[in-house]
Amino acid sequence: PDLEKWIDEVPRPGVVEPTGTKNGQPYYEIEMQEFEQELHSDLSPTTVWGYEGHTPGPTIEAEQGEPIYVRWKNDLPDEHLLPVDTTVHPEMIPYDIDGVRTVTHLHGGNIESESDGKAMGWFTRDFEKTGPVFEKKDYYYVNDQPPATLWYHDHAIGITRLNVYAGLAGFYLLRSDHERQLDLPDGEYDVPLAIQDRSLNEDGSLFYPSAVSEERGRGHDSHPDPSIVPEFYGDVPVVNGKAWPRLSVEPRKYRFRLLNGSNSRYYNLELVEYDEESSEVGDDGPSFVQVGNDGGLLSEPVEFDDRLEIGPGKRADIVVDFSDYAGETLLLHNDAPTPYRGTRTDDHMKPLPEIMLVDVEGTNEDADTDPTQLPDELTTVPEIPVESVDTHRHLTLAMDTDEHGRMKHRLGTKDQPEGYNLEDPVTEEPTLGETEIWSIANNTSMSHPMHLHLVHFQVLGREPLSDYDSSEDGVDPSELESPEPYDLGWNDVVSVDPGEVVHIVVHFGEYEGVFNDQTGEYMWHCHMVEHEDYDMMRPYRVLPADG
Ligand code: C2O
Ligand code: CU
Repeated sequence: PDLEKWIDEVPRPGVVEPTGTKNGQPYYEIEMQEFEQELHSDLSPTTVWGYEGHTPGPTIEAEQGEPIYVRWKNDLPDEHLLPVDTTVHPEMIPYDIDGVRTVTHLHGGNIESESDGKAMGWFTRDFEKTGPVFEKKDYYYVNDQPPATLWYHDHAIGITRLNVYAGLAGFYLLRSDHERQLDLPDGEYDVPLAIQDRSLNEDGSLFYPSAVSEERGRGHDSHPDPSIVPEFYGDVPVVNGKAWPRLSVEPRKYRFRLLNGSNSRYYNLELVEYDEESSEVGDDGPSFVQVGNDGGLLSEPVEFDDRLEIGPGKRADIVVDFSDYAGETLLLHNDAPTPYRGTRTDDHMKPLPEIMLVDVEGTNEDADTDPTQLPDELTTVPEIPVESVDTHRHLTLAMDTDEHGRMKHRLGTKDQPEGYNLEDPVTEEPTLGETEIWSIANNTSMSHPMHLHLVHFQVLGREPLSDYDSSEDGVDPSELESPEPYDLGWNDVVSVDPGEVVHIVVHFGEYEGVFNDQTGEYMWHCHMVEHEDYDMMRPYRVLPADG
């Protein structure tokens, strides 16, 4: 549908309250449901999925040092809202059972393995059917990591892309006293913004392609119907569940928790001055100041001179000062191509330049009343020394073709650079208490946002594949292209561009007050959810220190 832009205000997701206590800790019951939600005021309400009647779901507000329990309840209908391709992992998935498989993963959480929300730990309505690694109903989130912008979303094997697209995602904000003392913008000035892209049918219902031809304009007779698509790029930007919205702000500092909750789309963002009458873009607007990444605060605020890149799954914790822009309208502008940094021809590019308008209210006098001041120092981010590395893993991102002639991405190692399947045995087994370098080499034709469960890592830097020798262990960060502001500090997603290798250092276990002291099985995967489903996801296992 031809929607008028900039009609609706950006909604703020509500906060979910505990339903009671369990073992003396707050206990939440959060239900996945199908319901109707208005994505734009000119559209009739759209049937979506979400948590507690909302997409994005209500925010979980948690406190460092205070564990909580969550029972994620599946109350979804018998049939999926979107076309399910039953040729994805048919040997691992019982496609003929009744009900929709779901499992909720807390992305970025230091979580015991049984509560991680594993792809194979799915369950249907009322826990009637459960997957092979389902272990418990009440997940335990220990919350002993630094304060950070986390999020929760569905992770059911083979249909994560459909469940997330239907709306199963929400914020989880972990806070601490230390963070409160920093005097960052808070309360109504601390705004979570989930950016997603959708495609809509004329009647306002969600459209998700069931064949490559619908997504790319070319078909293949050999493909099953419906068929998974290699990537999904929608043509309607949605922020906190509203299409083409606008956000009113006062002329002062705001903290934005940006989340890229899109299936495949990257964003490269900047604020620019905007003339609504002529739809013309003017000069640069206020710059972004990065204060945190996936795993928490940076050591100090870093001002951008370039655009902010945010790949699927990633969060950016930024402060924007609107005090010089009273009375002006700004546009949140995106210039990321699809596929991101792709080397394919661009006749199927689906750019989405205009994301959201920002109306800066008030006058210049109001601008002087901002009580917040950005501190010079935010927190201590201990640098993990590369000299202390126990194991150096050389990993690959690769492309393959399946028996239907479809593209299939995979993850590999230097011994098997063409990649493994999800069901192949674990190849990454770090030991608790040890430090590892993971060098991820991208042999494909586009960028991939690579995510590790459980841990937060530090990005050492990147280099062209031609400079990299996977037979040599050890990395000299001074010889690498150094991390951008969005790669600083603690991260759980890092973008690996085609033709490059990204080196990350990760400590498995507590590190100078930063906790990820769990053992057991976890996943690592590409966070483009079409790739995660097929087939860029692999298990990894953290072994206890004493063998
Ligand atoms: Cu946000 Cu395994 O994912
Ligand atoms: Cu990918």
